[in-house]
Amino acid sequence: MVSSTDNQPRRPERIAVTGAGDIGLPTAAGFADLGYDVSCVDTNPEKLARLASGIVDLHEPHLQDLVQRGISTRRLRFSTNGIAATRDASIVFICVPTPQGDDGSADLSYVEGAISTIAPVVRPGTIIVTRSTVPVGTADRLRDLIGRNDVHVASNPEFLREGSAVADFFHPDRILIGASETVVRRRLGELYDVFGAPVIITDIATAELTKHAANAFLATRLSFVNAMANICEAAGADVHQMMRVVGLDPRIGPKFLAAGPGWGGSCLPKDTRALAYVARQLGEPFEQLEVTVSSNERQFNRVVRRLSDHLCGSCRNRRIAVWGLAFKAGTNDLRDSPSLAVCRRLLAEGAHVTGYDPAVTAPQVKHLGVDYADTSIGACFGADALVILTEWPEFSEVDPSDVASAMTGDVVFDTRNVLDTNAWISAGLRLVTVGRGSPDPKKSSVNASAA
Ligand code: UGA
Repeated sequence: MVSSTDNQPRRPERIAVTGAGDIGLPTAAGFADLGYDVSCVDTNPEKLARLASGIVDLHEPHLQDLVQRGISTRRLRFSTNGIAATRDASIVFICVPTPQGDDGSADLSYVEGAISTIAPVVRPGTIIVTRSTVPVGTADRLRDLIGRNDVHVASNPEFLREGSAVADFFHPDRILIGASETVVRRRLGELYDVFGAPVIITDIATAELTKHAANAFLATRLSFVNAMANICEAAGADVHQMMRVVGLDPRIGPKFLAAGPGWGGSCLPKDTRALAYVARQLGEPFEQLEVTVSSNERQFNRVVRRLSDHLCGSCRNRRIAVWGLAFKAGTNDLRDSPSLAVCRRLLAEGAHVTGYDPAVTAPQVKHLGVDYADTSIGACFGADALVILTEWPEFSEVDPSDVASAMTGDVVFDTRNVLDTNAWISAGLRLVTVGRGSPDPKKSSVNASAA
């Protein structure tokens, strides 16, 4: 997918990237592959030593190849010395974390720390670009912090999805550049000319806010779909068929319409809460967004409630097998994972939870109180119920009769719509689904007595 650019001429801009995480590393390795000299800075020396020897710990397809190619062409270097790495750079991308407070506010201390280090040493004409997601108004703060009028500030939010970050870097839908000076707009735009994607140039505030808007919109869309799924369950309708029809409207489109246990990850929840916070701060409360967030919490509760209903009213002392711990398939990232949100609730109800995930390792879940199984069937031994919480394709290939033999109980809750319903029912299992006319037992009995 990614073509080697060994024969490319060296590019004029020299790039530095601060932060070798899930945004910084694909950005650094991607630009190196396009022919730029790139220095990637991080404060973690162990991580950098592994990266310098070509080992990438992130579960990100093609990233290790890309990093190794950057090292072998000597276009990609790693350093813990922010001053040395940025002194000769003409463009510096800030890709450090922006953790969130309970109220949705962003902690910009890593961004400000990185800027304070480099601001005194960068050359005149250098463009310092925020690529991490930051609240609107951050660039103005940073400009004050830099305190130099010979250095430019810009915003270039990333739209990289975990699990396809490399593909997204090389095949972007759109490039967003927030900058006020013409020369900055031109220089940043030229970095991305090669992709042929629409490059949208805005003022900095619009760019900063657009990133939040895009993720909050996606989250709101999913909360809508999940609410429709709940209505479908009550009405005996099928949300999957429904969303297929809805998505065929070209104004809506077919993607991001899969109902599930609730949405998560390191970006959607954080950015949605962040935008709600920003809106409150600006005196324009965004009530719909507040509901988007709270309804997602209720969706996690709902998974546990429905499971309890199918286990005679309680998960207490029940053994629950969980397939899928990562926040989505294709990653081993547990940050704000819907699966963990459900596991925590199950544990709080007194259930014993054993989890399996093809990409997550035992040490990652050790502190959570979830037992770890090495295989999908291993998680099911002695289980009263199985819950599927991440949509790994391999789950659809498991033989349901193996699951039925391993389990003590017969309840299988497929919150991601990955199983072949008929095959699993034929194996003698009681299949519970999301958004597909499998009304809750309590409601069914209410309906029956009302009739
Ligand atoms: C998200 C955005 O999709 C990217 O465009 C953005 O660049 C990125 O955040 C970021 O800000 O860096 P990502 O966090 O990788 O990407 O995750 P998504 O693919 O958006 O999935 C988020 C959650 O929604 C997952 O829990 C997933 O399972 C859930 N989801 C997604 C559904 O429940 N149904 C769907 O149809 C799609």
